[in-house]
Amino acid sequence: MNQDNLSELKKAAAVFAVNFIRSGMSVGLGTGSTAIYAIEEIAQRLNDGTLTDLVCIPSSEETKLNALSRNIPVYGFDRVTRIDINIDGADEVDNEGNLIKGGGGALLREKVLAQNCGRNIVIIDETKLSENLGEKWHLPVEVLPFCWQAEASYIEALGAKVVLRINEDKETFVTDQQNFILDCNFGIISNPEELSRMLEHRAGIVENGLFINTTNDIVTGKPGGIDHKQIKR
Ligand code: A5P
Repeated sequence: MNQDNLSELKKAAAVFAVNFIRSGMSVGLGTGSTAIYAIEEIAQRLNDGTLTDLVCIPSSEETKLNALSRNIPVYGFDRVTRIDINIDGADEVDNEGNLIKGGGGALLREKVLAQNCGRNIVIIDETKLSENLGEKWHLPVEVLPFCWQAEASYIEALGAKVVLRINEDKETFVTDQQNFILDCNFGIISNPEELSRMLEHRAGIVENGLFINTTNDIVTGKPGGIDHKQIKR
């Protein structure tokens, strides 16, 4: 599938998700090339008056700038502690609606939004679907810079090949929280809950890109139309 077709699928999924937003709601704005279509659509509806009085909370500095450039007012958790609807992309999605996220490095704030929302809508194109997590994507793990080597070695002992993420300028990638990202190739992750727990209990690991039981809706753009799957949480 070429990039144009893929973009169409992402956009269709994003527009479908934005239809669930009502005026006055608090809305989580995701990060990435799919979430940007939702931001565009929200901006358009605010602009033409279809939606009013939204309280939008961005999941990254990139998304914040993007939203502001489209005249979407953005807020933080000082304004609302509960988000009505969060709309975000994902790198990989399994049959149960568990995700790998963090391809763009925004996993920590994205997870904070996901765990503080009433309805979490994940928007993807069909290439993101997998039988098992880890088939297509390495697991991003955010770590404190001062001990990244020690954390890499811990994660290697769990069975992964670990690479410190670098940016386009070949420098170490730094997250919005000034941390580093380790991209961890575990192969197929047969027990995502257990792996997530092992990573959560380790000082120095700030967050990992496994999103377990955080999704309410998976909206998938497919060439034949939208597939909307609701997941019990
Ligand atoms: C950002 O850190 C990620 O979690 C994104 O949400 C994820 O990588 C999906 O991005 P795309 O929509 O660009 O594939």
